[in-house]
Amino acid sequence: THQWRGIIEEYRDRLPVTADTPVVTLMEGGTPLVPAQVLSERTGCDVRLKVEGANPTGSFKDRGMTMAITRAKEEGAQAVICASTGNTSASAAAYAVRAGMVSAVLVPQGKIALGKMGQALVHGARILQVDGNFDDCLTLARALSEKYPVALVNSVNPVRIEGQKTAAFEIVDALGDAPDIHVLPVGNAGNITAYWRGYREYSADGMSTRNPRMWGFQAAGSAPIVNGAPVLKPQTIATAIRIGNPASWEFAEAARDESGGLIEAVTDRQILAAYRLLAAQEGVFVEPASAASVAGLLKAADEGKVDPGQRIVCTVTGNGLKDPDWAVAGAPQPLTVPVDADAAAEQLGLA
Ligand code: F0G
Repeated sequence: THQWRGIIEEYRDRLPVTADTPVVTLMEGGTPLVPAQVLSERTGCDVRLKVEGANPTGSFKDRGMTMAITRAKEEGAQAVICASTGNTSASAAAYAVRAGMVSAVLVPQGKIALGKMGQALVHGARILQVDGNFDDCLTLARALSEKYPVALVNSVNPVRIEGQKTAAFEIVDALGDAPDIHVLPVGNAGNITAYWRGYREYSADGMSTRNPRMWGFQAAGSAPIVNGAPVLKPQTIATAIRIGNPASWEFAEAARDESGGLIEAVTDRQILAAYRLLAAQEGVFVEPASAASVAGLLKAADEGKVDPGQRIVCTVTGNGLKDPDWAVAGAPQPLTVPVDADAAAEQLGLA
């Protein structure tokens, strides 16, 4: 029997570690690549979902965090810090526990989902809510890491990107080659950067015969790359990607341009429609930001930009349980019944 060993052991020769590196892992990666029947029908393509909510802390951040915390440990750091819209902080807090380190996290006040706050709290992170947005939090985290003995584990730390590129390897390993198109949500733009690096590395080494076109989608109220200018007051219900000045902006543009891809915006309405479709028709519960990839694919299909017959992978980045408010909002309240089979059957429409 084969137990998945985490991304560092699985892809050791492609990551910046040595035989002596003390690996800090929660066995992240090895996530499902799920065929999406309804999306495939809608687009005439073979659409798969890379379900990153299946990682140990419920998001793709674990791939980067195993690398970042491992290297911080190797370098003797005793504390790590990050700015976050929630998932990075949840991941940093968990991996810091494994490493015996202190974690400090800076989050925009009132703008992170409850599940993510709960994760950081239960893992014992020192949390500061900053009176500002994610971009302000990142400025503050950088300043603190420059002045104090604390390692920065945001995706401006290049080893984060190295860890996250393994998702592209897994997709090629599963499909036998790269897909035609890879679709993903864009916030701070680290993940699109990481996938593009992973795909290029694999094709350069003959592990695949081609690279996909990279399609990134920002939320319309937080779409600096699409607008061509930073957004001072980013807005969107998809709080994970509520970012106005992405750190990896140029790398995201390079991924788009080198791959012949695109970066466009989707509205909150389109994000929520995709969120509901994924849950109600594909059986995959993701958080709203994750649905931006699928919203973008459906938008492009409606605009006639998706030729049938292609193989398409959409990354869905985080688990729906992190932000269940949107699942409950607007849904009918469950009815209450007595302990009576006939009454229950009637309410269920079985009688
Ligand atoms: N989806 C989810 C669920 C995220 O948490 C993030 C980023 C993204 C997509 C966008 O990825 O930033 O690499 O372009 N979350 C960061 C955080 C900012 O702090 O957890 P990106």
